[in-house]
Amino acid sequence: MASPSVFYVFFVYICLFTSLCFADDPFVNYEFVVSYITASPLGVPQQVIAINGHFPGPTINVTTNNNVVVNVRNKLDEELLMTWAGIQQRRSSWQDGVLGTNCPIPPKWNWTYQFQVKDQIGSFFYFPSINFQRASGGFGGFIINNRDIIPIPFATPDGDIIILIGDWYTRNHTALRRALNGGKDLGMPDGVLINGKGPYRYNTTLVPDGIDYETIEVHPSKTYRIRVHNVGVSTSLNFRIQNHNLLLAETEGSYTVQQNYTSLDIHVGQSSSFLVTMDQNASTDYYIVASARFVNESLWQRVTGVAILRYSNSKGKASGPLPDAPNDQYDKTYSMNQARSIRWNVTASGARPNPQGSFRYGSINVTEVYVLKNMPPVTIDGKRRTTLSGISFVNPTTPIRLADQFKVKGVYKLDFPTKPITGPPRMATSIINGTYRGFMEVILQNNDTKMQSYHMNGYAFFVVGMDYGEWTENSRGTYNKWDGIARSTAQVFPGAWTAILISLDNVGVWNLRSENLDSWYLGQETYVRVVNPEATNKTELPIPDNALFCGALKKMQKPQDISSAPSIIGNRSKPFLSLVMMICAVIYIFN
Ligand SMILES: *[C@@H]1O[C@H](CO)[C@@H](O)[C@H](O)[C@H]1NC(C)=O
Ligand SMILES: *[C@@H]1O[C@H](CO)[C@@H](O)[C@H](O)[C@H]1NC(C)=O
Ligand SMILES: *[C@@H]1O[C@H](CO)[C@@H](O)[C@H](O)[C@H]1NC(C)=O
Ligand SMILES: *[C@@H]1O[C@H](CO)[C@@H](O)[C@H](O)[C@H]1NC(C)=O
Ligand SMILES: *[C@@H]1O[C@H](CO)[C@@H](O)[C@H](O)[C@H]1NC(C)=O
Ligand SMILES: *[C@@H]1O[C@H](CO)[C@@H](O)[C@H](O)[C@H]1NC(C)=O
Ligand SMILES: *[C@@H]1O[C@H](CO)[C@@H](O)[C@H](O)[C@H]1NC(C)=O
Ligand SMILES: *[C@@H]1O[C@H](CO)[C@@H](O)[C@H](O)[C@H]1NC(C)=O
Ligand SMILES: *[C@@H]1O[C@H](CO)[C@@H](O)[C@H](O)[C@H]1NC(C)=O
Ligand SMILES: *[C@@H]1O[C@H](CO)[C@@H](O)[C@H](O)[C@H]1NC(C)=O
Ligand SMILES: *[C@@H]1O[C@H](CO)[C@@H](O)[C@H](O)[C@H]1NC(C)=O
Ligand SMILES: *[C@@H]1O[C@H](CO)[C@@H](O)[C@H](O)[C@H]1NC(C)=O
Repeated sequence: MASPSVFYVFFVYICLFTSLCFADDPFVNYEFVVSYITASPLGVPQQVIAINGHFPGPTINVTTNNNVVVNVRNKLDEELLMTWAGIQQRRSSWQDGVLGTNCPIPPKWNWTYQFQVKDQIGSFFYFPSINFQRASGGFGGFIINNRDIIPIPFATPDGDIIILIGDWYTRNHTALRRALNGGKDLGMPDGVLINGKGPYRYNTTLVPDGIDYETIEVHPSKTYRIRVHNVGVSTSLNFRIQNHNLLLAETEGSYTVQQNYTSLDIHVGQSSSFLVTMDQNASTDYYIVASARFVNESLWQRVTGVAILRYSNSKGKASGPLPDAPNDQYDKTYSMNQARSIRWNVTASGARPNPQGSFRYGSINVTEVYVLKNMPPVTIDGKRRTTLSGISFVNPTTPIRLADQFKVKGVYKLDFPTKPITGPPRMATSIINGTYRGFMEVILQNNDTKMQSYHMNGYAFFVVGMDYGEWTENSRGTYNKWDGIARSTAQVFPGAWTAILISLDNVGVWNLRSENLDSWYLGQETYVRVVNPEATNKTELPIPDNALFCGALKKMQKPQDISSAPSIIGNRSKPFLSLVMMICAVIYIFN
């Protein structure tokens, strides 16, 4: 008789090689009609990007391992790609929605994303990734709940609230794009929106009459999980709720050591969830504030988002001054110390029952090191551009992943420098050659005077250190090798560095970029290409049936009306499938 381990290997084989295991996970379908609508969040009518007529868009709310299907219909007058910030797209950069992996969806076309939220939990968001469209909206929350059998490291909250904060311009994305293309700076934003709405009129001089503001309704003594996302263009925001403690519980898919904050700095592209107990006596409503950080307050007063927290037994309106922001315009130590205080709860279960800290990142040897340096914008070939390590990225007309698939040569170079180049900055489609199963150390050095945040698709990375000054080899002595938080977006203070560690276990081509929209738009990004040298599709899903073609492969594109819905289970025999499912599930749970 065969030993149990042989069965185990046999079924794992079936699970991995046929993808049958994933087929049994439920499908959750969304239709996204992306169009312009007129809205006046700051009192000035403008075209904003809505989804199904809503601005912000609907929340995607699913459970670990669900198969998410989103049919995106492009009713804009320009190309569109939707990306899923923080969603790791395990084994499938095909669904990542950035120009390095996907052809854009032409106007009037639709494209169906299909991906599994494999082994993930937490708070994320989606947004349109090209043409500066995020500055006009198109964003919304993306929640991945834990499976019932996996405990969460806190009592089940009484409610779940999403708060999208972000700086906002009354100019639309095409006008902002034109300014950037013309070599101009975008200047100070016109305000901060909270869930797509302008500020509550907390001060009649500062806020004009007639602006619609967000009201969050709560019940006394209940505890809510409040998921806050900075979906803005470029402004770091300080988030706070008058008289209420923010108990930080999760950032971008990792449970944190739970700590109370009176306010937290949330940089562009970052997500955090807080547990907030409604423990005040409801004598009035309370202010929810998101204000610009590290700026001259008297000049930036209007760049403040104000919403209302209303208890069901509230006795009156919020009044008086807003709760104070940290008063440290010229001392960013407070904010950096706060960032360092965010740590991983290594004993909590993540998406699986094993502790988050069972992956001991601190004892793994680094296989490759990249120092990526941000400098103030430069002029290259007469154009104002931004650079990373002296290289300003040019998106190829044929996406990198497609070029690899169809062996199109000359689309990109695998020559991204490990250290900033010393010569003049240049434009190039230069990407990082990642080693599959390698362990990469990336040092993000910010030589500009503005705050930056960097995001990597396909991964959560460990934030192990940050400090002012120039990073040196000795800086490694200060790394947190035990409970650095795993997340997908890290801030880099001006004149400072942030070090991250990435376990390159996800095959594909992955965007590494500035999340600051103007820096990104002007070239501050690259890709990390991770290839499994063994030819197998167990580590990467095959190209989807509905893949779009463009650039050198344009001729392969069928007209849109010939639709090709991807088939999942096909005609495999159902009873056999169910048996395999059950065994897979058992193996999966106990694995
Ligand atoms: C594996 O890849 C081959 C070639 O790309 C493809 O024909 C086959 O359908 C794939 N198998 C599965 C199970 O996806
Ligand atoms: C954006 O604003 C410009 C004016 O600056 C206007 O001409 C254009 O139609 C607007 N675009 C959209 C999509 O609303
Ligand atoms: C477009 O939507 C239809 C359903 O309305 C779907 O059958 C088709 O697969 C979609 N096209 C693509 C390319 O995803
Ligand atoms: C960490 O997670 C464990 C396990 O769920 C939980 O019991 C503990 O309270 C958490 N610790 C902190 C400090 O958040
Ligand atoms: C998401 O769905 C869960 C149930 O699956 C529900 O408890 C929760 O309130 C939902 N969250 C939001 C923000 O809709
Ligand atoms: C409103 O703001 C203005 C400008 O900052 C300030 O001078 C004034 O005192 C504020 N009014 C109130 C009632 O706080
Ligand atoms: C956080 O603050 C609340 C009061 O709002 C308190 O009950 C709780 O004990 C604090 N938790 C921690 C971990 O400090
Ligand atoms: C509770 O509310 C009353 C007004 O209704 C107020 O006078 C009192 O100061 C409040 N107490 C606390 C502890 O906030
Ligand atoms: C902030 O801006 C105001 C208004 O222009 C100016 O008077 C003040 O000097 C500035 N403060 C600092 C510290 O730069
Ligand atoms: C890491 O490298 C050291 C030598 O530099 C070696 O002794 C050690 O075994 C390596 N650890 C692992 C986990 O490979
Ligand atoms: C990329 O890295 C792999 C090892 O991971 C190496 O074999 C290959 O030669 C590298 N390619 C280039 C172009 O540097
Ligand atoms: C930028 O780099 C130069 C040279 O290393 C250094 O002198 C300068 O202080 C740096 N500036 C910032 C803001 O980091």
